[in-house]
Amino acid sequence: MQHNFFDFIGAEEGTWKTQSIQTLVGEPIPHAPFLTIQEGSLHSTPQATWALKGFKSNIRYTEKAEKIQLNQQSVSHARVEDTCATLIPIRKSEAWWELTQDERRAIFEQQSKHIAIGLRYIPAISRQLFHCRDIGQPFDFLTWFEFSPENVAPFEDLLASLRASEEWTYVDREIDIRFIKLV
Ligand code: HEM
Repeated sequence: MQHNFFDFIGAEEGTWKTQSIQTLVGEPIPHAPFLTIQEGSLHSTPQATWALKGFKSNIRYTEKAEKIQLNQQSVSHARVEDTCATLIPIRKSEAWWELTQDERRAIFEQQSKHIAIGLRYIPAISRQLFHCRDIGQPFDFLTWFEFSPENVAPFEDLLASLRASEEWTYVDREIDIRFIKLV
């Protein structure tokens, strides 16, 4: 399982240059000028201004037809034109975690249309989801997006739609950190 762990390290040097950091809700994190993403383990804790750990996991809410569509539309390779990236660490409230799986799925998709909305933006926006609630991290999820400069505006539209949804009323900590790739 160790290869599933990733460390997002905000520090004085790195491969992505920080452009902006915006706290939407909850406690902020300190500004770090650069970011590096590296494979980690459950135990290693890199020295840095901040270090967030997450792991890739199985799907929870996606249904079969959605999975097929997601797979058809996704890109599996890195694209040279994707010089913009965004890291959005997210925590959901206790009220969310007290819900049952079927109640969460209903909010996530029937009410909020997270997947239906998201599908309109892939493959232009490439996405990765890391979980971290169960490993004692300050956030529940680390979400990572890469896209070309032409897709900054569509990405803003996507964020506006999701942040206006019922699902987001359960988000109690969210930080939006923008990066530019160093060549
Ligand atoms: C690019 C288009 C997007 C698509 C296609 C997409 C798709 C998905 C899918 C399929 C899942 C469910 C995975 C599962 O079944 O467990 C998911 C979960 C999630 N997504 Fe997105 N998403 C997109 C954009 C975003 C954005 C922009 C954000 C953050 C601002 C975001 C935040 C999350 C979070 C936090 C979860 C985990 C929710 C939970 O388990 O409670 N997604 N996304």
